[in-house]
Amino acid sequence: MLGAQWGDEGKGKAIDQLAAHSDWAVRFQGGNNAGHTIVIGDTTLKLHLLPSGITAPNCKLVLGCGMVVDPWVLDQELERWHALTGEQPEGQRLFISERAAVILPFHRLYDAADTLVGTTGRGIGPTYRDRTERVGLRFVDLSHVVDDVGAIRVIADRMNKQLGTVGVEGTIDPGQLQSEISWVIGRFSDAIRPTGPMLDKALREGEEILLEGAQGAMLDIDQGTYPFVTSSITGRANATHGAGIHPGHIEQCFGISKAYTTRVGNGPFPTELALDEGPGRQMSEMGNEFGTTTGRPRRTGWLDLVALGGSQRINGHTGMVITKLDVLGGMDELKLCVSYKLDGNETQSVPASCEDLARCSPVYETHPGFPTLSPEEWIDLADESRQGGGFDVLPKTIRSYLTRIEEAIGVPVVSVGVGPDRRASIASSDGPFDIHLGEATF
Ligand code: IMP
Repeated sequence: MLGAQWGDEGKGKAIDQLAAHSDWAVRFQGGNNAGHTIVIGDTTLKLHLLPSGITAPNCKLVLGCGMVVDPWVLDQELERWHALTGEQPEGQRLFISERAAVILPFHRLYDAADTLVGTTGRGIGPTYRDRTERVGLRFVDLSHVVDDVGAIRVIADRMNKQLGTVGVEGTIDPGQLQSEISWVIGRFSDAIRPTGPMLDKALREGEEILLEGAQGAMLDIDQGTYPFVTSSITGRANATHGAGIHPGHIEQCFGISKAYTTRVGNGPFPTELALDEGPGRQMSEMGNEFGTTTGRPRRTGWLDLVALGGSQRINGHTGMVITKLDVLGGMDELKLCVSYKLDGNETQSVPASCEDLARCSPVYETHPGFPTLSPEEWIDLADESRQGGGFDVLPKTIRSYLTRIEEAIGVPVVSVGVGPDRRASIASSDGPFDIHLGEATF
């Protein structure tokens, strides 16, 4: 399950729906820059590190080797889960790859100096940077350095020099660093495992694995709107690699996109609308478009089929999930961006240079709108679709909007989100999301 835009597409809800049918849910990149929201009845779960598959009690969970993991954030998230459900999954059904990189307080401090990208400030980029420079610590390394006072001093010295280069106040004390590492080992030693071989064995035994993406294709370090991107490969090519298994295992690849577009942080956004009026404001207010991780207001705009086409090119989705369609209810007309105009020429691909992308103006197609429905009415419609109606329960205008998306990217839409609740989804009949929804586990 991969984000096809700039993140925040609603992956948490879609993964929650599939998890009951999977033996494993695996995060393969990123860290707690992600924010996945799941709404079940009156309970809203906000997850940053724990795979969204946690809601299915029989689903085993992995924080994969491609991830950067902040152990203190994981601890807090597990405490909240324990308070909600009484379960302590770590070491039981939640495993952390021994190869995953550890986010330390230094990385958070260093990330706070970012003024260019508008990062989430969670230390993600600096931790990946240390990994690439081969000076970072992975979970497996912690027990090797914890008692080596000399090595800890070298690490702390380097961190302090780095902080000096970006003018951040605060120093890393070697003794403190040593006790932090020691705490991580004590807290998570039961959960730290060779998860790649574990998943490989599970596959050989016929088990099903759900690979859970974070962020989205347009935030991909290689293929996104560089430098306004995250620091990992968010796409299909890394989904198996970041889980420690091979790409031949992938059977289906779902891309997920809102029925419109949002973006947090800086960087060009061709279909951006004003946030304080008209459709942009409706998207923001009705869609509750505030970052799950940072609370920042998300920028809003019309659906960008050029960007989705780019995402399709790199990820080869086999089906698309379109979310938050209900948010567009009541608008007179809906716009779809079908190409960009750059220096008088039309293009259907996203330019590699952000300067060029910032100069692109969107070319729109206009489609008729559809009426507003209440959350209950949408859930009734979704119930009707589950009784065999599939997409036939949707008004004609919505179906033609979805058909246009399918035509543009050449992939069928398999599920449409019409509200935050787990039940508020309409799936195509006999498609991969046409499934019985399990009961909530809490
Ligand atoms: P970083 O991942 O914290 O380094 O942030 C880099 C860029 O990616 C910033 O523009 C963030 O706002 C954006 N970003 C990171 N994670 C997410 C996410 O889960 N959803 C949306 N945007 C994100």
